[in-house]
Amino acid sequence: MTILLVLLLVAAALIAAVYVYDTRQTSHTILRNYPVIGHFRYFSESFGEYMRQYQYLPDWVERPFNRLERAWIYRTAKGISNLVSFGSETSPAFAFRPAAFGVLEEETTEWTPRRIGIAEGPNAPLGACREPYDPPSFFNISGMSYGALSHAAVSALSRGAKMGGVWLATGEGGLAPYHLEGGCDVIMQIGTAKYGVRDEHGALSESRLREIAAHPQVRMFEVKLAQGAKPGKGGILPAAKVTAEIAAIRGIPQGQASISPNRHADIANIQQLGAFVDRVRRITGKPVGVKFVMGQESFLDDWFADCTANPAHCPDYIQIDGGEGGTGAAPAPLADYVGLPITQALPLVAEARDRHGLRTRIRILASGKLVTPDKVAWALCMGADYVSSARGFMFALGCIQAMKCGSGHCPTGVTSADPRLIRGLDPTDKSVRVMHYAKRLREEVEMIAHSCGATNAGGLRPEHVTGIERGVGGFRNLGG
Ligand SMILES: Cc1cc2nc3c(=O)[nH]c(=O)nc-3n(C[C@H](O)[C@H](O)[C@H](O)COP(=O)(O)O)c2cc1C
Repeated sequence: MTILLVLLLVAAALIAAVYVYDTRQTSHTILRNYPVIGHFRYFSESFGEYMRQYQYLPDWVERPFNRLERAWIYRTAKGISNLVSFGSETSPAFAFRPAAFGVLEEETTEWTPRRIGIAEGPNAPLGACREPYDPPSFFNISGMSYGALSHAAVSALSRGAKMGGVWLATGEGGLAPYHLEGGCDVIMQIGTAKYGVRDEHGALSESRLREIAAHPQVRMFEVKLAQGAKPGKGGILPAAKVTAEIAAIRGIPQGQASISPNRHADIANIQQLGAFVDRVRRITGKPVGVKFVMGQESFLDDWFADCTANPAHCPDYIQIDGGEGGTGAAPAPLADYVGLPITQALPLVAEARDRHGLRTRIRILASGKLVTPDKVAWALCMGADYVSSARGFMFALGCIQAMKCGSGHCPTGVTSADPRLIRGLDPTDKSVRVMHYAKRLREEVEMIAHSCGATNAGGLRPEHVTGIERGVGGFRNLGG
């Protein structure tokens, strides 16, 4: 009896010690938020490796992102080895064509930024701006609003973006102090509700726009027509997430659901889009891009023809978001079936842009599950000048794909509204992971480029890749 009591006391003391350790450490959000029981997640993750042969889910089955992709990001973000042993587990739908004689290390060169925007000057064409932007990285953080993401997540992204030399896009929820906190370059998005730059009637406020543009960290503005997960539907932030702070940043009432319109009320055609781009660029003096989802092809030709005829209407970049893009909350039919996947959209858009002679005028940013070096390198081959990702960086922050972003109960603090869960995400620790992920991803894209015979990632071309270059199918077996 006494022995049993002693054993019970020892077990209780051990559990208490683990509890204290878990709640104090900062590197594992799940353990901070779920002390003691959280260890079962790590146990079953490592145990699964040995049980795989006995019917555990294969590594490439999970969606939207399979375990292989997520594991690559987790390991990379933690700065530990991501080498594979024994052989590849994927059956890729495309392949890069290696050069017979690759590039020697001493022959490699630095990727050079592709300027976004044309500098003003005596001979500058219409559509020039005061402060064009030379982004330091070809891989960047795609927009996710403060509100959809917690303040801790935005802080970690901002600090990690600074350390990793990447830009951070705000998403449609306006500019929060957390975006600026780390000192990184910021892209301010203007969504359909014009959060952060709206007047009391919901129209564009020129004075608010000027105030935001005055932040030296804000390098570009982005007019959002649509995002891949919900083309034709505006942002949705449930009432519970509209705190006093978020309401003030967005310029809306507190405690009411924040539903943005499904289209800009003042942009109903190509001419109005061009005029809006021109207006924002004139007011801010900074480059202006347009984020959209590829649908009907005739739109592209009409749009690019207008840009050629009216250079002041020309956006400085376009972000093509694939139909497979992520979201905080979206209706399933739109998320599942509306919008061309990036594998089809990017080749179409790049071809149309080049055919209209706009290759150096309009830079292309691609997004849509481009989270690992192979996909990013594929996009660069197919004509993207830049690639950005939202969910890749969420994984770097510790997201476990619980698919609860809209509920406010994300267990990892990334999209949580609950202060107890947000507390688990330590911005200092996670910012280092963001930095590792960004840097290592770029290094491995460069490695692919060198293997193909290009001296840096800027030299990747369509002839370096085969398989889905015309956009047939998706990234089968790779989670696409
Ligand atoms: C939680 C979350 C919030 C997002 N919020 C926005 C937003 O406010 N505006 C926007 O244009 N896109 C938003 N997106 C879409 C991303 O910016 C991106 O275009 C899309 O997820 C594709 O990139 P990915 O596949 O690397 O995640 C959001 C995505 C997620 C996952």
